Amino acid sequence: MKTEKKTEKKTEKKTGRATAPGELLCVRDLYKRYAAENNRTMKREYSEVIREISLTVRENESVCIMGRSGCGKTTLLKILGGLLAPTAGSVYYKGEDLFRSRRKRMEEYRRTQVGFVFQDYKLLEHLTVRDNMILPLMLEHGDVEASVRKVEEMADRLQIAGRLAYYPGELSGGEKQRAAIGRALMNDPELILADEPTGNLDEASGRIVMELLTGLQKELHKTLVLVTHDREIADHCDRTITIRHGRIDSLD
Ligand SMILES: Nc1ncnc2c1ncn2[C@@H]1O[C@H](COP(=O)(O)OP(=O)(O)O)[C@@H](O)[C@H]1O
Ligand SMILES: [Mg+2]
Repeated sequence: MKTEKKTEKKTEKKTGRATAPGELLCVRDLYKRYAAENNRTMKREYSEVIREISLTVRENESVCIMGRSGCGKTTLLKILGGLLAPTAGSVYYKGEDLFRSRRKRMEEYRRTQVGFVFQDYKLLEHLTVRDNMILPLMLEHGDVEASVRKVEEMADRLQIAGRLAYYPGELSGGEKQRAAIGRALMNDPELILADEPTGNLDEASGRIVMELLTGLQKELHKTLVLVTHDREIADHCDRTITIRHGRIDSLD
């Protein structure tokens, strides 16, 4: 009896949590605290940024995370993307307990299953749009001809085909973000994580970026988790989760 129990536990550990059909991400009892040195007292102090967050993201849906500046949105997104480890709690990706998997697996998750889009684009300034977009593909396999075709096709969809030979410094903000979206989608990730992707854009280019992003997400059957504090941007998503002081305030 005893041994049986042990085996059962082991299997559970290896495979993680059983997933419900259609579930991509499952976050359970997540906590994150940051440590900082207090300059006055010289003591280490902790601030709790994420407090007991649990949520589920289904395949192919777009979820918007809203909340005031400083409430923990970026921290949560970084944890979902495996860029930052939580202090406690779990993130399951298709039932796999990400932060209990091996480092190599986590690197692979970040590289192949997740596409990141940042507020400040994070394009490499000394590379053209074409090279910025092709880079993730080169890291994966290096078939140059197929990669060039893929970049051109994606640029066409994002309406920046005429900008492929330009450097980021020669583009408008909206064009930069469209190039960054193209780069994020190059490896065909299942999950797109976008942190205030329209935060640096004017209303008109922000709307175009959102329409292209959510359009591609639906067309290519991706899952999108997007952070914003703009209600209008949130309306482009299937549902919204509001965070307040590190906790979920409301779900709709
Ligand atoms: N690396 C860090 N070290 C210490 N504190 C941090 C760090 N990153 C973020 N914080 C703090 O955590 C809180 C939440 O930050 P963040 O997740 O960036 O919020 P949001 O994206 O909602 O504005 C803020 O008070 C911020 O100052
Ligand atoms: Mg933020």
